[in-house]
Amino acid sequence: MCGIIGFVGREEAAPILLDGLERMEYRGYDSAGIAVRSETKGLQVKKCKGRLRVLSDLTHGGADLEGTLGIGHTRWATHGEPNDINAHPHVSENGQIALVHNGIIENYLEIKEHLMKLGVTFTSDTDSEVVAQLLAFHYNECHNMLEAVGRVLRRIEGSYALGIVCSDYPNALIAARKDSPLIIGYGENGNFIASDVTAIIKHTRDVVYMGDGEIAVLTADSVDVFDDEMLPLEKQHSTVDWDVSAAEKGGYAHFMFKEIMEQPEAIRKTVSPRIREGRVVLDDVSMTAEYVRDISRIFIVACGSSYHVGMVSKYNWERLLRRPVQVDLASEFRYSDPLVDEHSLVVVISQSGETLDTMAAMREAKRRGARTLAIVNVVGSSIAREADDVLYTWAGPEIAVATTKAYSTQLVLMDLIGLYLADLLGTVEKSEYDAILAEIQALPEKLQRFLDHFEDVQYFASRYFNHNSIFFIGRNLDYAMGLEGSLKLKEISYIHSEAYASGELKHGTISLIEPGTLVVALGTYAALFDKAMSNVVEVKARGAEVLAVTTESFREKMEKTADATIVVPDTHPMLQPSLGVVPLQLFAYYVALQRGCDIDKPRNLAKSVTVE
Ligand code: M6R
Repeated sequence: MCGIIGFVGREEAAPILLDGLERMEYRGYDSAGIAVRSETKGLQVKKCKGRLRVLSDLTHGGADLEGTLGIGHTRWATHGEPNDINAHPHVSENGQIALVHNGIIENYLEIKEHLMKLGVTFTSDTDSEVVAQLLAFHYNECHNMLEAVGRVLRRIEGSYALGIVCSDYPNALIAARKDSPLIIGYGENGNFIASDVTAIIKHTRDVVYMGDGEIAVLTADSVDVFDDEMLPLEKQHSTVDWDVSAAEKGGYAHFMFKEIMEQPEAIRKTVSPRIREGRVVLDDVSMTAEYVRDISRIFIVACGSSYHVGMVSKYNWERLLRRPVQVDLASEFRYSDPLVDEHSLVVVISQSGETLDTMAAMREAKRRGARTLAIVNVVGSSIAREADDVLYTWAGPEIAVATTKAYSTQLVLMDLIGLYLADLLGTVEKSEYDAILAEIQALPEKLQRFLDHFEDVQYFASRYFNHNSIFFIGRNLDYAMGLEGSLKLKEISYIHSEAYASGELKHGTISLIEPGTLVVALGTYAALFDKAMSNVVEVKARGAEVLAVTTESFREKMEKTADATIVVPDTHPMLQPSLGVVPLQLFAYYVALQRGCDIDKPRNLAKSVTVE
């Protein structure tokens, strides 16, 4: 959840570190810090609570710190409150070692107690400081940094990406990783480590993804990577093919808005390469028709918005495949003793490819013999590397914490996979297959049509932004879409919100509806439109204010009942959420804007959740 960066080279490190941290601030933003080493000034550390700009002001844009070797960190607190002391880098008591850490050290208390008995004094409440102190302890035993790092890694349990500098090694940056992302970047003027490509794309596109248990030693001109037994490794280089502007705001006020507007193009990029001669082609999937026929149950496992994609896909895939499809929250699945075996296909969905619960769920599924298919946006991420098959969403870098374009591309990719599997199983008529595929291809244009004129969404947001509690209701695909609309709203506007399957309302929740309560009624799912309307009438009868989202076909009917109506283009019923979710994203965005919220970096959240 935190972002780490390191640089060693022939340029001043501090400005590079600050710039990289700014690009990664979405990963964590409660405190930040950098440590830079120079011949004359030794190890200089600056860290503080608050956003990165506080650190930047404190160091005059990095000018106060001298040296061409350094590490930086932007924090999402797990152990210890966000304050100056708990901010990274952490420095060993003797001032020899500075370290940044992303992840969680599970046995830190036991190690801390042991070191305290040996006389080590701790200053912070963090698990990360324990690693710095333990490293200094072992280094002073063996006087060899690599050996000391090896000893520490054998002792600590949990997840980590580490960036380390030691005053005795003025030209070397040391890195290690397990279950937290870390890449190495090869630059002209030096080499980098970073949690995320976005931090270093300005300097290099030539990267190596570190694997679990690996350790790297970087100097200005060399990178050596070792396995957990310190044997040298030959790593495969990858080239990052997206442009630096993709990770910049490009004139938009917020990344979230930019990413909403990018959805037509993102969907096009996800879909186009996968359709050839009127058929879905998934070159990267190695499942045979025979294997697919042998699947008795499909599990879709994910967290947050990715889970909501799974909810939509469950409805669509069961309809297309006539096979049981179960959608599970990764955090529940992993501990549920799941009934998964070699006849199960487990599809995991993750934008970041680093969500710890999703990764653990996938490992559990593999352990039980299932085949795993990962839907991932971040190339080279842990989930992408460990899954049996991976399909990328090609949404480009998503920076806003609240996902929009990644959600949309996951959705459409799941639709393509559904069609692909149905074709292999022979469970879809050709005419239906062709109709769905044609509509998938038409989605970018239809979405663009909506995005060219959404002034009404902006207007409704200004009318309703001061509500304290908002309900989203809908049936079937509209219910699944409502879950996402509700999450978007609560995560960036901090308004209490719930999504309900309309039919469930009268089993309890309707008691919360009182005069003036805002209900967002989703009526885009044609097959159940009339039933959904009955529920709209029910909440209206109890005084609710109803903002509806519907399709061109149902506009007239909806306008007769709802207080306000947003209309999206018609498409194949299965694909309607791809269009219907966009006004919900925009509604959340404008409500949050009206309320003065920090849209791209909502409180308490981080972009990728690499802790349990
Ligand atoms: O990277 P992932 O797709 O695995 O992330 C899962 C959730 O953490 C993520 O979708 C989260 O719910 C977003 N903040 C929603 O906007």
